[in-house]
Amino acid sequence: MTVPLSVAFLILSLLPLLHGSQDLICDSPQYLELGQMGTIRCSVRDSLYAVYWYNNTNSDVESPLLTFQNSAKNGAGYLSREFDISSKGSLIIKNVSLQHNHVFRVIVYLDNESSRTAIDIDVIVTVPPNPYHLTVDGCEDYKDCVLGVEPQGILTCIAKGVRPQIQMEWIIADKSSPKSLMTFTNHELTVKSKGDTFDVSITSNYLVLPSVSPQWVTAECRASGEYYSLFDLTTKVNLLFPLAPTEERVTTVDLNTDHLTFILHVKLACIAILAFILCILCTNHEGRLGRRISELGLVSCQRKAPETGDINEELQRFPTEI
Ligand SMILES: *[C@@H]1O[C@H](CO)[C@@H](O)[C@H](O)[C@H]1NC(C)=O
Ligand SMILES: *[C@@H]1O[C@H](CO)[C@@H](O)[C@H](O)[C@H]1NC(C)=O
Ligand SMILES: *[C@@H]1O[C@H](CO)[C@@H](O)[C@H](O)[C@H]1NC(C)=O
Repeated sequence: MTVPLSVAFLILSLLPLLHGSQDLICDSPQYLELGQMGTIRCSVRDSLYAVYWYNNTNSDVESPLLTFQNSAKNGAGYLSREFDISSKGSLIIKNVSLQHNHVFRVIVYLDNESSRTAIDIDVIVTVPPNPYHLTVDGCEDYKDCVLGVEPQGILTCIAKGVRPQIQMEWIIADKSSPKSLMTFTNHELTVKSKGDTFDVSITSNYLVLPSVSPQWVTAECRASGEYYSLFDLTTKVNLLFPLAPTEERVTTVDLNTDHLTFILHVKLACIAILAFILCILCTNHEGRLGRRISELGLVSCQRKAPETGDINEELQRFPTEI
């Protein structure tokens, strides 16, 4: 009996909290870009008593940055024009700076001063890389880059002056070709801190599988990890390889040579046999076919046949006459 009772009590005690969270929903963390107007978004029930925004979690001792009550805005942050509030209760930062990279608290009073809900929101100020893309080593233009490379080597890609510290990876971009065309190994992420931003670079070893040895592969460097979706950071590079690995090319050529030689020998043998048969036919003046061939003048080996020709004798003589 004690267990169901305590469970029921737990559910009952949770109810006001769930109710409150339906009246006020804010995601955390929220990402705001440096030097832009930023909004800490919350979804608040339409009719409410008041909204108070705080610069930190010390709402018990500090006065709010901004208050919104009876459609009236007030507070030091509002009066200094650093902040504003939307009609739905979201906090607007007019020009996001690194001083806004901290936790904000919002307290919503639903019907009166005693029914309140509080949420803390972690604000992370972001800086897109400059230039606003990932740069591949060896590429002059980050779009339509073609690199002539060996089937094995390293690829490096860099994001300069980015915040927060992103992760990066190399992948095969060509979706139509099997993933096993090429492998990336030994990924080395290098991070250089530059004040509030980072220079992040990834260096990976790549290897084209000899069994496949394609002529080209499109590789892609892209942002990965927790912050991959903050900026649209992907750069493609077309890797152009030598036609085929050396061993394979040599083998192919050898095969072809053998094949050609064989055909040549067969042809020569055929000609020799044909000539041999024809000469026998034209020496036999009695044979109709032999005469026909002689008449047509097709055979140059025609000569006056002996009166009493012995075919066997002729046959024996034939090879020495050639
Ligand atoms: C935002 O603040 C930065 C640094 O104080 C300033 O350079 C920039 O001009 C400001 N942007 C706007 C839109 O006020
Ligand atoms: C809010 O807090 C930040 C960081 O603690 C501080 O730099 C900033 O001056 C505060 N802003 C106001 C208006 O109190
Ligand atoms: C405040 O509103 C709640 C309902 O949200 C109500 O139960 C409570 O009695 C009200 N308190 C005062 C002092 O009006």
